[in-house]
Amino acid sequence: MEQKRDQWGSKLGFILAAVGSAVGLGNIWRYPYLLYSNGGGAFLIPYFFALFTAGIPLMILEYGLGHKYKGSTPLAMARANKKWEWLGWWPSINSFIILTYYSMILSWAVNYLYFSLTQAWGTDTNAFFFNDFLKLSSAPFDLGGMVWPIFFGITALWVINWFICYRGVSGGIEKLNKILLPTLIGIMVIIVIRGATLPGASLGLNKLFTPDWSKVMDPKVWIAAYGQVFFSLSLAMGVMMTYSSYLPEKTDINNTAFMTAFANSGFEFLSAIGVFGILGFMASSQGVGIDEVASQSIGLAFVVFPKVFTMMGAFGKIFGVLFFACLVFAGLTSSVSLVEAFSSAIIDKTGMDRKKVVTLAAVGGYLVSIFYATGAGLYFLDIIDAFINSYGIVVVGLAEAVVIGWLLGPGQIREHTNAISYYSIGKWWDVMIKFVTPTVLTFMLVQNIVNEIKSPYGGYPSLALAILGWGVIGLGILLSVVLSKKAWKNNSLENYK
Ligand code: PFF
Repeated sequence: MEQKRDQWGSKLGFILAAVGSAVGLGNIWRYPYLLYSNGGGAFLIPYFFALFTAGIPLMILEYGLGHKYKGSTPLAMARANKKWEWLGWWPSINSFIILTYYSMILSWAVNYLYFSLTQAWGTDTNAFFFNDFLKLSSAPFDLGGMVWPIFFGITALWVINWFICYRGVSGGIEKLNKILLPTLIGIMVIIVIRGATLPGASLGLNKLFTPDWSKVMDPKVWIAAYGQVFFSLSLAMGVMMTYSSYLPEKTDINNTAFMTAFANSGFEFLSAIGVFGILGFMASSQGVGIDEVASQSIGLAFVVFPKVFTMMGAFGKIFGVLFFACLVFAGLTSSVSLVEAFSSAIIDKTGMDRKKVVTLAAVGGYLVSIFYATGAGLYFLDIIDAFINSYGIVVVGLAEAVVIGWLLGPGQIREHTNAISYYSIGKWWDVMIKFVTPTVLTFMLVQNIVNEIKSPYGGYPSLALAILGWGVIGLGILLSVVLSKKAWKNNSLENYK
């Protein structure tokens, strides 16, 4: 007997979950610096161009495929064309791999949430983070010892991931997003209001938005814009297809894709204003330029911001708690979406019970994550993340556009989404999927490969890049092909409607 497919309790629940997946660390710690370093206000041109020519069209494609074929990514791809099933497995496997290190970053944020109460990082926040907290070893294959606070954080996060997905789509994921997303937005608004009114904030905001038009001519800036749009909208990772497969028959997909994208961009602007307001305050208090304090990702969250929180005195303790809570909440709603994308694929393929699959996935993911709780964790994260972003996301996005645009015919998906949506999308969408998205992604892929050959990523030893970089990519593709050869349980390939 085929199991009944889970469904969202409401359309709002679906939108919140999709936005919850899209809004993540990328919005908070990646976008602000990207905007600043790629031409400030002028970056908005490539950014919106990327959003309308690739981000939203691919989101409609993923929503449309998941909804039309009612399946997780491999099942939807197999139902569209059995030959391309493997293409649905690769993003699902990538989701699992990303999860194993995502839980480590969230574990850092949980630890820092606790540290903010006493500002335990002291005055040298850089040394505290890398030496005292991470106990960073000397190289990727020097594991060092187990770092217990990180280990405990990872354990807690996997228990949460497991619990939410175990409870199912409407009872777990939807409920989590209904609580966390509004809370996250509320906290971000407080951070922005206070951040933008700190003394010196205008210095940061001016720098952030002052357009540098020369950058608009630089192809690297365009690649950065497309990369951000893909990553930030959680595209080519299996999430959006899986989430839309839980929608009821009649759902306005076209409109929802625009709403998800705009909500995600709105959150990105909000955090850019908050982050640069705070950096402006820091730079003016220290009498230095913005370029000396501006940074992104780990450096911003775990080195620069702790320093600012200390400078703010007692108020900085509250600010620190709010900021790290933001990271944890934003990350949790994204990590749960990755667990679901992976588990759903296994549930569809094997016909096994959700509870069993989610439990096995959580235990497996947890066991792999433990490696990241060692002194070499940061190196693993850095290499694997770079390769999955440069190749996994780009190749999957490209292949999705080519398979649908050229082999299946974009009209099939467009007609499906138009039939159930309030607004119809026109032939422009076909043009984006057939020509624009594949061209841009091919360009990005070639550029990434050329760069990798010219200067291997991060200056790591070749063996580390061969195993953790190319090895992980190769293993993902191999596993995808093997899995696609296995039979579907209960004839689930044909049984839909
Ligand atoms: N969209 C998330 C962010 O911007 O941080 C990251 C992400 C989550 C990417 C989930 C992909 C994914 F499937």
